[in-house]
Amino acid sequence: MEVILQPTPEAAAELLARLVAHDLRANPRLVLGLATGRTMESVYDRLTRMHLEDGLSFADARTFNLDEYVGLPASDPHSYRHYMQERLFRHVNVDLRNTHLPRGDAADLDVECQRYEELITQCGGIDVQLLGIGQTGHIGFNEPLSALRSRTRVKALSPVTVAQNASLFADPSKMPRRAITMGVGTILDARRVLLLATGAGKAEIIAKAIEGPITSMISATALQMHARCTVIVDEAAAAKLQGTDYYRWIFANEPEWEPYRS
Ligand code: F6R
Repeated sequence: MEVILQPTPEAAAELLARLVAHDLRANPRLVLGLATGRTMESVYDRLTRMHLEDGLSFADARTFNLDEYVGLPASDPHSYRHYMQERLFRHVNVDLRNTHLPRGDAADLDVECQRYEELITQCGGIDVQLLGIGQTGHIGFNEPLSALRSRTRVKALSPVTVAQNASLFADPSKMPRRAITMGVGTILDARRVLLLATGAGKAEIIAKAIEGPITSMISATALQMHARCTVIVDEAAAAKLQGTDYYRWIFANEPEWEPYRS
């Protein structure tokens, strides 16, 4: 795992967008794992700008989102399909037939989870997976005690996550209490993982996720076992990390980060 500190949330989002753009230019048929949430909004703004101003093309990309609320059809304005449509898909040249999210309104949720796993496999697996981190330390909606080898399945949302996201619903009491989510094992299978966390509210859970012991109570700790995981944090989210001198040294000195040190 590498930890990259950036001075501001904007700089952190910019770095993540540049890393995605780099990988997409290198492989136009990239299989890109996407996340939703507040943190990702400015990343999608930047990818949109790169598409409009720098010709970044999504024409041949395939995308798989981490999760979707159970019970919400794609047309629901609170669905993650709707979020993706509004935040990214309708602004870029992605082929919607190549964009995938679990169907939260599927008649048989177990069959839907299996279908989703098989589709990822058919596409050759995820090349780059974007992640945020929730207050519980979840990645996707892998709430406390998610098995570290779990696959796509239905997961009950914790009260902490409900509190985190309910305000995004016009009627907070209507927020679904369950979601379909890629499992921790599904996420660990991605060839590259990029996690973004910004703001003081993430400082405590980021310190636990990066420097704490691996535990299924905090699914993000499983990323310590991933061979190619980069965590990008702003100064506020990095405030409780112990090893920042080392992390800063790596970004300032390792050749792979040279193009991103502007
Ligand atoms: C969203 C997702 C979640 C969020 C996390 C952070 O698809 O899977 O894990 O990334 O809850 O959300 P924000 O960015 O709103 O703090």
